[in-house]
Amino acid sequence: MRLGNEVYDKIAALPFPTVALIHGFCMGGGTELALACKYRVADDGPKTRMGLPEVMLGIVPGWGGIVRLPPLIGAANALDLMLTGRTVDARRAKKLGMVDAVTPRRHFANAARQFLLSPPAAHGLALAAAASDWPGIRSIVASMSAKKVAQKVRRDQYPAPYAIIDLWKDFGGDVRKVPDDHPASIRKIFEHPTARNLIRLFTLQDRLKAFGKQDVAPIRHLHVIGAGAMGGDIAAWCALKDITVTLQDLAPERIAPAVKRAAALYGKRLKQPHLVRAAMDRLIPDVAGHGVARADLVIEAIVENAEVKRKLYASIEPRMKDGAILATNTSSIPLQDLSTILERPERLVGLHFFNPVAQMMLVEIVEGPQTSPEVMRAGQAFAKQIDKLPLPCKSAPGFLVNRVLSPYLLEAMLMVDEGIPAETIDAAARDFGMPVGPIELADFVGLDIGAAVGRELAKPGSPIPKKLMELIEAKNLGMKTGKGFYTWVKGKAQKGAGPGAVDLKPLADRMVLPALNEAVACVREGIVADADLCDAGVVFGTGFAPHRGGAISTIRSRGKKELLEVMAELKAKHGLRFEPDSGWDAI
Ligand code: NAI
Repeated sequence: MRLGNEVYDKIAALPFPTVALIHGFCMGGGTELALACKYRVADDGPKTRMGLPEVMLGIVPGWGGIVRLPPLIGAANALDLMLTGRTVDARRAKKLGMVDAVTPRRHFANAARQFLLSPPAAHGLALAAAASDWPGIRSIVASMSAKKVAQKVRRDQYPAPYAIIDLWKDFGGDVRKVPDDHPASIRKIFEHPTARNLIRLFTLQDRLKAFGKQDVAPIRHLHVIGAGAMGGDIAAWCALKDITVTLQDLAPERIAPAVKRAAALYGKRLKQPHLVRAAMDRLIPDVAGHGVARADLVIEAIVENAEVKRKLYASIEPRMKDGAILATNTSSIPLQDLSTILERPERLVGLHFFNPVAQMMLVEIVEGPQTSPEVMRAGQAFAKQIDKLPLPCKSAPGFLVNRVLSPYLLEAMLMVDEGIPAETIDAAARDFGMPVGPIELADFVGLDIGAAVGRELAKPGSPIPKKLMELIEAKNLGMKTGKGFYTWVKGKAQKGAGPGAVDLKPLADRMVLPALNEAVACVREGIVADADLCDAGVVFGTGFAPHRGGAISTIRSRGKKELLEVMAELKAKHGLRFEPDSGWDAI
């Protein structure tokens, strides 16, 4: 750290003008190098991104980023970027004052010459931006930022954002000035398990991406059948990613809401009207299903009913192109139950997306017993083509993610039946580090869907949650109907008072242990190839406490012995659903 800072300080102290020319990804240390130069020119192409995203890895910008960015763009803006890890494109960087000029790359040499031959005066900051870095105002800005951070994460779980604020407020952003035993020191940050876990997840993300690097032709035409919550959003996402998509459902009025949601997504993501129009043109409503015969890939996302799905396959398979792939988005039906009707079962693959499609990175690529290796490879490559993370899975009920999630949700609902308030249960899960509590999540996904998946995955003798059944009976299905376990207003669950002085840890253990147990079973059964992929799946597919690094990583850091003891107590109290899987020995 010291040597890196010395090099950047020397660059900053050079007695002549220096210009950084920025093209493509310029992250962390790259942005810090650019900040050590006097001027910065960025390419205005779509690939240019700048930022200090260290916080996402549980670490802090250590090579002068915290020293140099605040005076350049104002402390409030700089903290916002450093605390969220958000990156900006060239235009936004210019607006913020992070770069001095934006130009196409072919003009880089000219731009550099201009800055070197007639160096302009440093740009002045707007008064409000400059004021946020004044010594008197600094502590107010710092405490406001800390409050914002505290609404999202706790210091003991995510120390890095708090350290960034301390570093800026008390040490001028210079990591060399922080004593080793201070919580904001580089030593403390790097020794914290969160940094280790987040860095590991980052490398696992690369491992997932590598599954998509296959030598296969890209999908040009996709046909999606079922324009509901999932099919509609899958179609919209793929059209956003430059694929021509035909979207089929039983009637035009079933497709219309999906098209409306697509327009909103494109408006938000693409902004410029001509790009939005082009994406809308790629998404083609197709009630008659003409697209089946033209598509390289057909994704089925109709109701979760094996009989109905088989009937559909029988009618479309004869019309599909030679070499085209058939994929199902089923959440819980094993592929072998669907392929019985097919002439060519080897071309059926599971492409299991997660809800909401635009936000969830993971797609489980599900291999049935008959799926051919080429089709698996094509499925993985397709996920990469649309900028998702492919996770190859074997076809067993629930695949990986839902199988791990189901016993956790079930336990939470049984706790509701015992009279524990939903708010307390959700608070316990969040205290553990989950991004949302299980009850809120179940309401969000839809109680009918959750119950259907739960039924498929239930083990013999496992209890049925009463309150859940009552809600479904009364058609209170969660967010989509405005009422489930919570009342929902404008997409937000209305929660009562907090949990008060309840000890949340035992509640969290009771919900999380069945999920950990299931993760162990999935590794033992080879549902995914190894424990690392299991962790990647649960974090990217369910948001499982990232700072803990996933399910298996949680077991390893807390210790098998302690967890098995807790399980034994829970088994004595609640029965066989807390029986440890035989795979624990091998973890
Ligand atoms: P949905 O009920 O919102 O949509 C299903 C759509 O399929 C409806 O619009 C219906 O009209 C249409 N449909 C039914 N039969 C059809 C047929 N023969 N031909 C054409 N269209 C037909 O259901 P949702 O939630 O989108 O689920 C679809 C599939 O995705 C299911 O297999 C489900 O298990 C799976 N899935 C659901 C997730 C969720 O969170 N909702 C997550 C991941 C997978």
